[in-house]
Amino acid sequence: MKTRATTAELVAAMRALHQRDRVRLVEDPFALGLCGWHLRLLVRARPVCWFLINHALRDLRPTMLGVLIRARYAEQALEAAVRDGITQYVIIGAGLDSFALRRPDLMEHLRVFEIDLPEMQALKRKRLRRMGVERPPGLHFVAADLGEVPVMEALATSSFDPGRRAFLSLLGVTYYLPTDVIAATARSIAEGVAGLAVRP
Ligand SMILES: C[S@@+](CC[C@H](N)C(=O)[O-])C[C@H]1O[C@@H](n2cnc3c(N)ncnc32)[C@H](O)[C@@H]1O
Repeated sequence: MKTRATTAELVAAMRALHQRDRVRLVEDPFALGLCGWHLRLLVRARPVCWFLINHALRDLRPTMLGVLIRARYAEQALEAAVRDGITQYVIIGAGLDSFALRRPDLMEHLRVFEIDLPEMQALKRKRLRRMGVERPPGLHFVAADLGEVPVMEALATSSFDPGRRAFLSLLGVTYYLPTDVIAATARSIAEGVAGLAVRP
């Protein structure tokens, strides 16, 4: 679990660092607060960060850009889906993503279901409490280990309506899943959702 929590935190730290860029792919005022204290310290220490990004961890820069581009791409696709009448958004392996907090414009139209490991969601709830941020009413946490429970079974424990169309995202998660679990996840979605607005 430690590694998985760390990767979700690293992604949040990347979004936090990105807030210093003049041109932003993702506006995320919550990213820094969602990080653990060590990453918050690091992100705030500008000269150290500059050194890490431009020298010591230079090879991570394409990864950082990829993290931002995937989030931007998914949210643009989601905007189109919302215009098309989609009202349910499932974020598989949401980690410390702050979509539901930073996109009230889309939350007006959506019920959002975040699926992740119970430990990860406990950590996220703790961080939100620390930040003094209320969970938006349209946001639902669905705790599940996808290695043990198929996506649709997990969603069946929530108010997700399989009879209505839905938009799903699976960003930065497949690295952590064995191929049979990835296949089972895709099968579960294909068999279980009435209508999909999913893009590769
Ligand atoms: C790198 S983070 C990606 C977070 C987010 N999607 C993003 O792009 O910012 C990967 C997430 O997948 C979750 N994850 C890994 N294995 C999982 C499993 N078997 N079941 C559910 N979630 C899992 C981790 O807990 C973590 O939050």
